[in-house]
Amino acid sequence: MTAPGGISVSARDLTRRFGDFVAVNRVTFDVRRGEVFGFLGPNGAGKSTTIRMLCGLLAPTAGEATVAGFDLRTQAESVKTRIGYMSQRFSLYEDLTVEENIDFFGGIYRIPSGRKRERKEWAIRMAGLSDHVRTRVAHLSGGWKQRLALGCAILHEPPILFLDEPTSGTDPISRRSFWDLIYSLSGGGTTVFLTTHHMDEAEYCDRLGLVYRGELVAMGSPRELKDGFPVERAEGIAPTLEDVFVSLVEGMDRAAGPVAEVRG
Ligand SMILES: Nc1ncnc2c1ncn2[C@@H]1O[C@H](COP(=O)(O)OP(=O)(O)O)[C@@H](O)[C@H]1O
Ligand SMILES: [Mg+2]
Repeated sequence: MTAPGGISVSARDLTRRFGDFVAVNRVTFDVRRGEVFGFLGPNGAGKSTTIRMLCGLLAPTAGEATVAGFDLRTQAESVKTRIGYMSQRFSLYEDLTVEENIDFFGGIYRIPSGRKRERKEWAIRMAGLSDHVRTRVAHLSGGWKQRLALGCAILHEPPILFLDEPTSGTDPISRRSFWDLIYSLSGGGTTVFLTTHHMDEAEYCDRLGLVYRGELVAMGSPRELKDGFPVERAEGIAPTLEDVFVSLVEGMDRAAGPVAEVRG
């Protein structure tokens, strides 16, 4: 289910404070159905805190958000059944086998018993783990863990998927195949909200929010961001997202305040 206009996730002035510290400062954005939307920013920027609020795991201090058309403040339980969430640590049980992990998450997500077997086989196939069903997760490589964690997060076929730094600690080949999975999910209509601090990976997103010190400093497609914030480079060298990000952040540090935004 999505809100009218095909908006899957909508945040208005979403804010989270920890004591006096503002971890997420009045962020406002919309994510459309089927979009791959990335939050790009350095460690400590407030990416995980934003995701945890949108998943209904952490209460906002101020502001509003709807996820799958449900109000985060009053309908957090309805939100939880419509989303998949892969936390930064993959949330798998290392001492359980591949199969036991899938069964465990199948139970949590209350997959109807008639669908359980089919979904389990799907997850095993998707993760490429057919020969390792009885292997303990602790013995799997990072790329396999990542695909298994993704499979577990979408066993219940949620319309919206939150991935917090899903590719940290995996090799380039695994990353590539992980992105193939993300595109196939998004092609099927799943909305994907992910965080990353890898600039190259940000290029793969349909749209990006650049976050720094809890603030959304710019938003747009990779192309819009590169065209909208011209950066001086030597002749013939195309500016990268990293150049755009660094120049925005330097501007912020100088002005100690937010700078202009491109809204795509
Ligand atoms: N439970 C918490 N209590 C206090 N500070 C926190 C808590 N969670 C996060 N923070 C702080 O909020 C800031 C943003 O953290 P986080 O959202 O994890 O950033 P990111 O995911 O972008 O690295 C950091 O400075 C972090 O230390
Ligand atoms: Mg984080």
